[in-house]
Amino acid sequence: MLTPVILAGGNGTRLWPLSRRDTPKQFLPLLERRSMLQATLARLDGLTTAMPIVVCADAQRFLVAEQLREMGREAEIVLEPEGRDTAPAIALAALCQQARCVDDSGDGGALLVLPADHYIADVAAFHEALERAQSAAMQGAFVTFGIVPRHPETGYGYLQVDDISAGLQPLRRFVEKPDAMRARAFLEAGRYLWNSGMFLMQGERYLQVLAGLRPEMHDAVTAAWAARRTDLDFLRPDAPTFAACERESVDYAVMEHIDKAVAVTLDAGWSDVGSFQALWDIAEKDADGNVLRGDTVVEATRDTWVQSQSRLVATLGIEGLVVVETADSVLVADRRRAQDIKTLVARLDAQG
Ligand code: GDD
Ligand code: MG
Repeated sequence: MLTPVILAGGNGTRLWPLSRRDTPKQFLPLLERRSMLQATLARLDGLTTAMPIVVCADAQRFLVAEQLREMGREAEIVLEPEGRDTAPAIALAALCQQARCVDDSGDGGALLVLPADHYIADVAAFHEALERAQSAAMQGAFVTFGIVPRHPETGYGYLQVDDISAGLQPLRRFVEKPDAMRARAFLEAGRYLWNSGMFLMQGERYLQVLAGLRPEMHDAVTAAWAARRTDLDFLRPDAPTFAACERESVDYAVMEHIDKAVAVTLDAGWSDVGSFQALWDIAEKDADGNVLRGDTVVEATRDTWVQSQSRLVATLGIEGLVVVETADSVLVADRRRAQDIKTLVARLDAQG
């Protein structure tokens, strides 16, 4: 059996001004009627799993509970007083699974770590890949899921393998977010897959490996978990103890250093819905390559994302842009610079 772990504590800053601090992208219906969190849960239908664990920010607890309720789903919700990125978040989930197993003397099986910000077109292919991965995970391997790369993306991790079309094979090396030159070299070499950000591994193994690589992080998370409180249906690790934990993603803290890992190639129409560029890639476009949402009028406009939420937005003679209007902000950006919206948001935050 699998224990799904849904990581829903990110900020989604590259999709500002749609994604905001109060309602980050994983809670928005960006591509379908349901939110990305709900789509992530729905993608598990048809698999035999233990009750999912959702790890998210304290501030979004009611949003998460409400979205689960809307779908008639149950999950354990672990709250982070402040996000410390994904390495500590997965450690919390592993501890939660462990506590559950002690209580039920059951076997929660491997942890299936799922980001809440993905789109997968072919769910059957995703389930097949999971099937292929399970026995390797039960033998102690960390399983990664790789996507055949389509362009030299710098926002992803890369998995070095021997043959990008093989089903399951040893992972030679993991490189998180290379610079543009290395990303191009990886693409040309033909031996690298994009890291999808989903992982399958035993929770206990994860904690063991983390203790070796980041002992302080491991100890801080373990202490915060040991001093947790249960509040309504929420699990709250101790705030000051968790806050003392360093901030690092699982990719940098663990995956770049792991020696026993495998890669499963996933051909399931995967897309990271991380930026307007990624959204534009998968969204339906008109004959001029535009994605138009809300009240818009466009003339001589090509390959542009135009979205209005509260006013009419009209464009003329533009190409390759992102134009997004919300009640309180307007973004006009070069679509090819969609990754850098992060930098813009950091400036806005600094200005308060
Ligand atoms: N609970 C919790 N706490 N979740 C978090 C936190 C946190 O502090 N930070 C991020 N997350 C969640 C996000 O909501 C998202 O669902 C997931 O963890 C991944 O975080 P991102 O911040 O979106 O990571 P990324 O997109 O830059 O990179 C990761 O995903 C890429 C593919 O989409 C890496 O794993 C890359 O290697 C990978 O290629
Ligand atoms: Mg992401």
